[in-house]
Amino acid sequence: MRILVLNGPNLGRLGTREPEVYGTATIDDIAPLVEAAGSLEQRVEADVRQTDDEAELVGWIHEAVDARTPVILNPAAFTHYSYALRDACAQLQGVAPLVEVHISNPHAREAFRHTSVISGVATGIIAGFGLDGYRLAAAAIVGR
Ligand code: DQA
Repeated sequence: MRILVLNGPNLGRLGTREPEVYGTATIDDIAPLVEAAGSLEQRVEADVRQTDDEAELVGWIHEAVDARTPVILNPAAFTHYSYALRDACAQLQGVAPLVEVHISNPHAREAFRHTSVISGVATGIIAGFGLDGYRLAAAAIVGR
C-alpha cells in the first residue's frame, strides 16, 4: 500500500524549528515511521513530501484523488485558514482515507490554532503525539 504523506509550510524545517514544540527529529524521520505501520502481509510505502506552497499542496491532493491514494496530511498553518485546501480534501471523501496529523496539540496552544478548516472533511485526526502521530495515522489507514 502506498500512502502519500503531505506536509505544509515550515515543516521542512523540522529539527531546528521551535524544537521545544516540534522536537528535534527531521522530515527524513517520517518515512520509516509510516512504513513501520506495515507488516509482511501488508507492506506500506511512504511517499513523503513537503511544500510551503498552497497551490502545490492542492495539486498533490488532486493527484491522490485521481489515483485513489490514502493520504496523511499535516497541513501546518494552512490547517487554520485554507479553504482551497479544504475543498481539495473534500474530494477525497468516499474515495480514499485522509488522516489529519499535527505534531503538537493545537488545542493546547494559541486560540487561532483551535480551528481546523480541514477536520470536517478528514476521516480522522491525530494530534499531540509528536512524530509518532504519522505512524499512528498509517496504522489507522492500514487497519481500514
Ligand atoms: C502543526 C500545528 C500548526 O498550528 C502549525 O501551524 C504547524 C504545525 C503541528 O504539526 O503541530 O506548522 O500542524
